Amino acid sequence: MSDRAEAGRRVTELRGEIQRLDDRYRAGDPEVTDQQFDAMMQELIELEERHPALLTPDSPSQRVGGEPVEGFEQVEHDPVMLSLDNTYSTDDLREWVERLRRLEPEADFVFVAELKIDGVSISLVYADRLLVRAATRGNGRIGDDVTQNVRTIRTIPLRLRDEAPPRLTVRGEIFMPLEAFRQLNKNREAAGEALYVNPRNTTAGTIRLLDSRIVAERQLAALVYDLHSDLVPGSPMKNRHSQNLENLGSWGFTINSGWRVCSSIDEVIDFIDEWNTARHDLPFETDGVVVKIDDLELRVRLGSTSKAPRWAVAFKFDPEQAETLVHGIGVHVGRTGTLTPVAELEPVFVGGTTVQRATLHNYEDLARKDVRIGDTVRIEKGGEIIPKVVEVRLDRRPKKSVPYEVPSACPVCDHPVVKFEGEVAVRCVNPACPEVVKESIRHFVSRNAMNIEGLGGRLIGQLLSQGLLVDYTSLYSLRASDLEELEGWGEISARKLEAELEKSKRTELSSVLFALGIRFVGQRAARLLADRFGSLEAISEATTEALVDVDGIGEKVAASLRTFFDDGENQTRIGKLQTAGVQLDRVQRRTVDESHALAGKRFIITGTLAGRSRSQAKKELEAVGALVGGSVSSRTDYLLAGDKAGSKLKKAEDLGIEILDEEAYLSLLG
Ligand code: IVH
Repeated sequence: MSDRAEAGRRVTELRGEIQRLDDRYRAGDPEVTDQQFDAMMQELIELEERHPALLTPDSPSQRVGGEPVEGFEQVEHDPVMLSLDNTYSTDDLREWVERLRRLEPEADFVFVAELKIDGVSISLVYADRLLVRAATRGNGRIGDDVTQNVRTIRTIPLRLRDEAPPRLTVRGEIFMPLEAFRQLNKNREAAGEALYVNPRNTTAGTIRLLDSRIVAERQLAALVYDLHSDLVPGSPMKNRHSQNLENLGSWGFTINSGWRVCSSIDEVIDFIDEWNTARHDLPFETDGVVVKIDDLELRVRLGSTSKAPRWAVAFKFDPEQAETLVHGIGVHVGRTGTLTPVAELEPVFVGGTTVQRATLHNYEDLARKDVRIGDTVRIEKGGEIIPKVVEVRLDRRPKKSVPYEVPSACPVCDHPVVKFEGEVAVRCVNPACPEVVKESIRHFVSRNAMNIEGLGGRLIGQLLSQGLLVDYTSLYSLRASDLEELEGWGEISARKLEAELEKSKRTELSSVLFALGIRFVGQRAARLLADRFGSLEAISEATTEALVDVDGIGEKVAASLRTFFDDGENQTRIGKLQTAGVQLDRVQRRTVDESHALAGKRFIITGTLAGRSRSQAKKELEAVGALVGGSVSSRTDYLLAGDKAGSKLKKAEDLGIEILDEEAYLSLLG
């Protein structure tokens, strides 16, 4: 057999086997380990790479993601993706049914109650039984085409079983199972990265990532709950939603097992009561129950408002609350020295986990709620990881309790704390405070900063207490030979960290600037500054005026930059980074010829140009360091005007801005 024919045979065999194993996985009964599965997938990918003609859109290899994309295409939903009206009590629910009865007095109301999955809604289109498009809800009418990302989700079939109709649209929910969320945060914690707040927001962020390979690693899952098609002869639609749900399951979709046909609203309420408790044992988050009319013809008669259908309603579960005792009020000191009060609690089981701490946000909030040591408080676990204190049970307050006093000194370093005018936060301003130092090192190594892997909070704490670290600059004095000696370190982890540190010396300037942890200088501001000034030295020497001259940099950021760079200790640290070999002038995006006459000049382009498109001209200008904006203002230097220039030309003339035709433009550009 030829190599090609042999490859074709093996590809078919692998796809069949992977498909079968995937089905077992979806049924919650995996037959092989993840490693065995990955090995098969790898073999398939390699064969397809060697023989591109063999690649098909339903190949399971599509699950591992592909090249990053620049952005998402917009797609129109047909029919529009509606939202749901919410109800919060069983009375609300009965009223909803009464309203429906008034609209359709003769109808026989049968309901389907389904768990409401707390994720992100998705629309999936199949043609010839192949997944051809997956889109987010967006504004309901237009969403983002996220097909490449959705292909990585193993609970979404790439090809439907033969008994499925060839064309259909389904709607469902994408979510991150709790275990995957915990694992992701555990990895982030170990890497010293900020933790994600809750599975839903993480899902929303993940599905819009431009790199589907990262999506594939995040282990999203999906459940479908709705089939869309017209009720016409030959259509796959049955006239009962419950029948459609069953069919969806038999065609290869994963449907939510938490659903029931209910012939009265009392039965619906029983379903809600059962799941209100049982939901904590689910492997994903649910925030309520969706109650729907089963009969699809009745649905059509009831219709929809512009926002939501009349034939369905969401019943929202209360956020979980519990009462417990406050043993103490602790303090968390952040990177910027902000002191955050934290209630230390008698452990209590709420919202599926045991809670021992609850945030009190800040001292103003604490004073308003008047939380005291010894109080019984009601806490609530909403979408966030850290629960909050809702209120104090004043009726259960011990007689001898005393109001909590705002600390006058940092609990970690004993340095007096400061409350700046106009700010709520109380801050420790000692730059040598061990907690501030630890948090600033965590920030320095984090993914969007120097991206040094393998140094979580615990390890940083260990190195600080051993005296091997003093601040972030001393990271570069760490030697594998010293680390190997420490508890929990081995030769491999020590060498790996050394290599990570070495690699980080070539970090782009904007990330280095962000890593320094200057107040108000986030990633965006850091990028703008790096692009404009090109080196840390130039930024540190820039005057406030020069700083605010950068579009997007305001007074507050400029003042904070000046305070930072005027501080001798910070200059010493920067000097140490430089001595260690950290490059402080790597601007990745483009090499700007600073000597070019147009560098730093602000341009507006309008009208039709003869020799180039507007976007081409924009690229040419940006390549020499000019800035191209959208609207004419007094800060504009030049207006490049082509044919049929309209209001922008008029405004530029009014403001006395120099106007260039294409010829003048070319001569300036050189
Ligand atoms: S039915 C016409 N069923 O909840 C709207 N939605 O708050 C049809 N959701 O946008 C939605 N689980 O993303 C339906 N079993 C379920 C659901 C569900 C979660 C989401 C859906 C919707 C949102 C409304």
